[in-house]
Amino acid sequence: MANVTHDRVLPLLLALATAAGGILLPAISFSGESSGPRLSILAPREGAVLRKGRVLVIGKAAGGGISNVEVDVDGKGKQVAAVRGGGFSAHVPLGSGRNVIRARAGNTAATVTVSAVDKPSGGGYVYHGGVEKCAECHGPPGKGFAVPAPRDALCYRCHGRQDKGKLAHGPMGNGDCTACHDPHGSAHKALTTASEETLCVACHDQKSSEVHFRKSRGKACTSCHDPHSSDKPFLQR
Ligand code: HEC
Ligand code: HEC
Ligand code: HEC
Ligand code: HEC
Ligand code: HEC
Repeated sequence: MANVTHDRVLPLLLALATAAGGILLPAISFSGESSGPRLSILAPREGAVLRKGRVLVIGKAAGGGISNVEVDVDGKGKQVAAVRGGGFSAHVPLGSGRNVIRARAGNTAATVTVSAVDKPSGGGYVYHGGVEKCAECHGPPGKGFAVPAPRDALCYRCHGRQDKGKLAHGPMGNGDCTACHDPHGSAHKALTTASEETLCVACHDQKSSEVHFRKSRGKACTSCHDPHSSDKPFLQR
């Protein structure tokens, strides 16, 4: 996850806490409640492995009425990205090894740590095809980046229907493609938001499935189940 730091406020509070004899202050939320901007990096994701060279950074800047965000890598090559409609993007160069990509506006920053190699051998981060053309999915710049639900109408503009089977999987009923897919990019097969087992079990942790999950351990859930829809009971392939 992109972490938000308020690097001026935090040391001050820590100094106050120390001055007060080390008594811990009650939990304070540093994000969401201040009037400043809230930054997050949507692509690439924390821990991603990418090919070294220039990569696209996509971020969200909500609130605070800011018009630009500075994006840098390990404090170098600072770029100023315009914020329009609450989103921004910039191309930044990644060198070999560990890179900290930072987006910053005033006292607020969001970072992701990624690594760059000559050629990712499986498990590398893949961008969604054509992702640099933001307007294909978000409309003209300045209109904002919110995508109306259900999302499937957007996805089906370019992809074949995934709901041809008689029985549709739960999230498909709401057209909620992004319950499982990251629309900007991912390091997982088919641009899913998590590895398959983590993804499926995140919604299916029911006690009643425990035995089933244990028995199927080691086999991909989608080797037996279609994640979208099926004519057979229990979404079997
Ligand atoms: C293939 C379609 C697609 C493309 C291309 C795309 N996005 Fe998105 N984007 C989405 C979808 C869908 C969502 C909603 C994600 C969700 O459901 O969680 C989203 C969410 C966002 C958000 C968060 C909006 C919010 O209100 O939370 C921002 C900001 C954003 N995109 C910026 C961009 C930028 C900048 C680009 C171009 C560099 C871009 N996107 C390209 C589909 C796309
Ligand atoms: C403007 C056209 C466009 C839109 C809209 C679009 N996509 Fe895509 N998508 C592409 C392209 C191009 C590719 C890369 C080529 C390919 O693999 O089919 C791609 C690839 C994918 C892949 C990877 C396919 C694979 O075989 O690994 C998935 C999954 C995907 N898109 C899901 C979505 C979802 C979910 C949405 C809606 C949030 C969406 N797409 C919206 C154009 C689009
Ligand atoms: C419950 C999770 C889930 C939901 C919801 C979901 N998908 Fe998928 N999708 C997957 C998984 C897992 C795969 C890869 C496994 C497979 O089908 O082989 C995949 C594969 C894909 C692919 C690439 C393979 C192919 O069949 O062409 C596309 C395109 C795609 N999904 C589009 C969509 C669209 C569009 C929606 C919304 C209408 C959607 N998905 C909703 C989990 C999901
Ligand atoms: C975003 C939440 C979500 C995710 C992620 C998800 N599911 Fe589901 N799934 C549901 C809901 C909701 C239903 C319908 C209610 C139910 O039967 O539990 C359902 C139903 C099912 C069913 C049918 C159960 C029945 O009784 O007919 C199967 C099988 C299934 N899911 C498998 C999977 C697999 C495999 C994955 C991973 C690719 C997955 N699910 C990911 C929410 C999810
Ligand atoms: C070897 C094939 C196979 C694999 C692998 C498999 N399933 Fe199933 N699953 C089935 C069959 C067949 C059923 C129908 C009920 C039964 O026989 O238990 C089912 C039923 C289900 C159900 C509904 C009944 C229940 O027990 O909750 C869910 C949810 C489900 N599977 C999710 C998953 C998930 C998540 C995974 C991966 C962790 C997975 N399945 C892996 C074959 C499989």
